[in-house]
Amino acid sequence: MSQSVLKAVIPVAGYGTRFLPATKATPKEMLPVVDKPAIQYVVEEAVSAGLLDLLFVTGRTKRALEDHFDDNPELEAALGSKDKPELLEAVRHPAGLAKVHYVRQGVPRGLGDAVLHGKAHVGNHPFVVLLGDDLIDDRDYILPKMIETQNKFGGSVVLLMEVPNSEISLYGCAKVSATDDPAVVKVIDLIEKPEAEKAPSNYAVIGRYIFSPKVFEILEKTKPGKGGEIQLTDAMTVLAKDVSASEGGGMYGVIFKGRRYDTGDKLAYLQAVVQLAIERKDLGPEFKKWLKTFSAKLD
Ligand code: G1P
Repeated sequence: MSQSVLKAVIPVAGYGTRFLPATKATPKEMLPVVDKPAIQYVVEEAVSAGLLDLLFVTGRTKRALEDHFDDNPELEAALGSKDKPELLEAVRHPAGLAKVHYVRQGVPRGLGDAVLHGKAHVGNHPFVVLLGDDLIDDRDYILPKMIETQNKFGGSVVLLMEVPNSEISLYGCAKVSATDDPAVVKVIDLIEKPEAEKAPSNYAVIGRYIFSPKVFEILEKTKPGKGGEIQLTDAMTVLAKDVSASEGGGMYGVIFKGRRYDTGDKLAYLQAVVQLAIERKDLGPEFKKWLKTFSAKLD
């Protein structure tokens, strides 16, 4: 794989209001999906694509994230002396995954503003953004295809997935045209969370992006949009429509058809936990058996 894209920005400063009171003092990214915090799935995905330099855009009450991706000598010593090698490895693993850096977004002003906080760290290179609410199944990792697409076309690349019309208002939505690769489209326009009737397509933006560093310049000028927040989608629209390829503009979409789990709201989170638990070799068979009996009793 080409080493043209090496750094990733992971915004984690949101309040997690949909999960209060669980998220009053615990970052929503630390909520367990089976027995691993949601954010660890995302970091493992980034690392597997060769992204070993991660910048978390963080905020108050997010200390647990730093602790999770750091060593814990006392706990490691305790597990070592109790002869628990598997637990010891599970505890050590997150700290060894990547070099994690942190920058604080004092006031959460929106996703666009969070990404802009990565400017000094990223410098003048294309970089990846991963959103913690979207988990991609490790059998269907797609970042390599996105990196390949960025290498081929330049500009920026976003992950798109077809969703039912009734769900498009939950996502950024892309108007697209075909390329010679059936898995890749050119993005012509974007709208953040359109009403179903006004959506230009059923292509929803999933939280994986590769940006040309030009995005920072645009974000600096982006005014608050939907919900009074600085929307990443608004800056992406400018990149797609108004900036020439020679200046780092242009946007392509990789169409995702794999397995994705959403941990962004309660219902989707519960579904993600059940689906991933069923896949687990250690828990799956017994959990599935119980789930069948349990669901047979439901009306
Ligand atoms: C954000 C983006 C949206 C995108 C979504 C993907 O919305 O603003 O364009 O489709 O992530 O998960 P959020 O889910 O943070 O409201």
